Amino acid sequence: MGRLAALLWFLAREARPSVGPPCVVDSEIGIRTLDWSVSMSERSYWPLKKYQDTYDRSLADPEGFWADEARKLEWFRTWDRVLEWAPPFARWFVGGQLNASYLCVDRHVRSWRKSKVAIYWEGEPGDSRVLSYSTLYREVNRYASVLKRLGIGKGDAVALYLPMIPELPIFMLACARIGAVHTVVFSGFSAQALADRMNDVKAKLLVTADGGYRRGRVLELKAIADEAMGLAASAERSIVVRRVGSDIPMRQGRDFFLHDLLARADLRVEPEPLEATHPLYILYTSGTTGKPKGIVHSTGGYLVFNCSTYRWVFDIRDDSVYWCTADVGWVTGHSSIVYAPLMHGASLVMYEGAPDYPRLDRWWDIVEKYGVTVLYTSPTAIRMFMGHGEQWPALHDLSSLELLGSVGEPINPEAWRWYYEHIGGERCPIVDTWWQTETGGFMISPAPGIQPLPLKPGSAGLPLPGVDPVVVDDEGNEVPRGEKGLLAIRRPWPGMLIGIHNNPERYRKAYWERLPGLYYTGDYAIRDEEGYFWLLGRADEVLKVAGHRLGTLELENAAVSHPAVAEAAAVARSDPVKGETIVLFAILGEGHGPSEQLKDELRAHMRRVVGAIATPEGIYFVTKLPKTSSGKIMRRVLAAVAAGADVGDVSTLEDEASVEEVRRAYEQLKKAV
Ligand code: PRX
Repeated sequence: MGRLAALLWFLAREARPSVGPPCVVDSEIGIRTLDWSVSMSERSYWPLKKYQDTYDRSLADPEGFWADEARKLEWFRTWDRVLEWAPPFARWFVGGQLNASYLCVDRHVRSWRKSKVAIYWEGEPGDSRVLSYSTLYREVNRYASVLKRLGIGKGDAVALYLPMIPELPIFMLACARIGAVHTVVFSGFSAQALADRMNDVKAKLLVTADGGYRRGRVLELKAIADEAMGLAASAERSIVVRRVGSDIPMRQGRDFFLHDLLARADLRVEPEPLEATHPLYILYTSGTTGKPKGIVHSTGGYLVFNCSTYRWVFDIRDDSVYWCTADVGWVTGHSSIVYAPLMHGASLVMYEGAPDYPRLDRWWDIVEKYGVTVLYTSPTAIRMFMGHGEQWPALHDLSSLELLGSVGEPINPEAWRWYYEHIGGERCPIVDTWWQTETGGFMISPAPGIQPLPLKPGSAGLPLPGVDPVVVDDEGNEVPRGEKGLLAIRRPWPGMLIGIHNNPERYRKAYWERLPGLYYTGDYAIRDEEGYFWLLGRADEVLKVAGHRLGTLELENAAVSHPAVAEAAAVARSDPVKGETIVLFAILGEGHGPSEQLKDELRAHMRRVVGAIATPEGIYFVTKLPKTSSGKIMRRVLAAVAAGADVGDVSTLEDEASVEEVRRAYEQLKKAV
């Protein structure tokens, strides 16, 4: 049964209480009431009516609504206007001034939270560090001084290429303190990918480490950083954090060890009052063209949106211990490890290494060790643990957990149930949060902090206040409830990207031209009769491999940069654990013959050009790629071949070509592979 059919079947069988106590609606285990008042004591929920009233008000008077939310932060100067909307460009809290690092650290050291734990850090080899808000404050100040002494100031771009160590959030906050714009590059990316990003933002400085630990091995980050420095002309200097203690070459006058610079650092750097529209960071993500997009987030709108949505969804309290397992290199790490939790003065857990190292119970050991109350992770991770069996979490006392979260890809009902039963002990609600790098923060999600609604396994629930999503057809007309369509957003929200770095035209094209007057998300969705959203994966040429976003064109460009490959097409194959994996079809150039060795070489090449996440699982050498008469690659034919599906499933789906054309292409391809 296809995914859509399975969902519709699931929806059809669903019991449907729309109000009442919080409960899990599940067609197989029946309706089980979750008594959140026991597991999450002292919380005051909004009754459904209040959610509805608040939601209605947020749409009726968005400026009044968001101004009230913004007042919950501290501003150096109040805004003159809440929103300037010159479609498709939005400027929030115009005239207001604030500082992200002030909100994340200074505010807390002026309260009893100064001695509260900000970060429980767990290294992969078993070492650990605990940073209080006072320590974090001191370090952010000293690091900001280091940056300033290297000549970094307001508006300068700093690339951060670091493993999951406390120095990474500290550097982000230090940049924010002085108004420098950070670009975090996931430490699994290659030298070329790092250099491309550094060149695009014109990074003046690169911060890296001697190495990082991953599954017991040392990741040689400095060597990759050196190669990237050679390819990125703008970067004059690099700072190196000592993590693994390996012997690394340092170039005199260019590379500096952090500990040497800290020895001369000032203890205090005043937070710069920054305009609300000042860019806080630029984060690259894949789109439908070959070149990743530099998504720019503002300071004011982004922080207001994250502060509110985080409170609604995770209902963080002072005794919460919150763990988001993402890497800081992705947007989840930016919003949900660094900015939102720290603005709330939360105690967070940060883990450096692999989830299954040294044993398959490493995560559950960490939950028990720190008494984690809120766990936020990805469906891929849940499915991986599910595959290894419930005996691993059963080794540990997970009774501290109160709330679970999921993000990055659709969560299938089976994984949802496993997570609910074996990790949450049938006690913890699961928040399936739908959002994107571009949205900055959560858009559609159950929100235990405000709406005690029934949860439906596999659905992201209702939109958060201020968010106005709609499911539409190709022309932008709303489709009836229960029908599949494209997910779009009807109006700007404060966390919305303020642009694509240096490319306003691409911003307009990618998000605002596909559907007239609407923000195009690139996702398929169904909205059911009760208003719940069911996310059905990407509608564009973007893959989600283990929750990581990759563009097909980006992968194809990487493949054809290998000397043996003349033409290539990348498609997704669905995978029971990773959601999707990459399958590559390649036409070889003159003088090159297919071989297993060439496949291995091509895999290694893709890893080198993009990073390990771009490794194709399947490679097929073909002599011709199926194309429509207008020259467009028939991706669905390729996807069907990759999936081993029958062409019958394809012919009705392929709208660009005639049935006969598709059938012929399919038969040819089957013979070739
Ligand atoms: O396809 C959707 C999927 O991830 C995409 C955004 O990817 P990225 O920018 O890397 O950000 C991921 C983390 C916020 C979306 O367009 N996605 C994200 N969350 C969900 C999801 N799909 C289904 N359910 C979700 N909860």
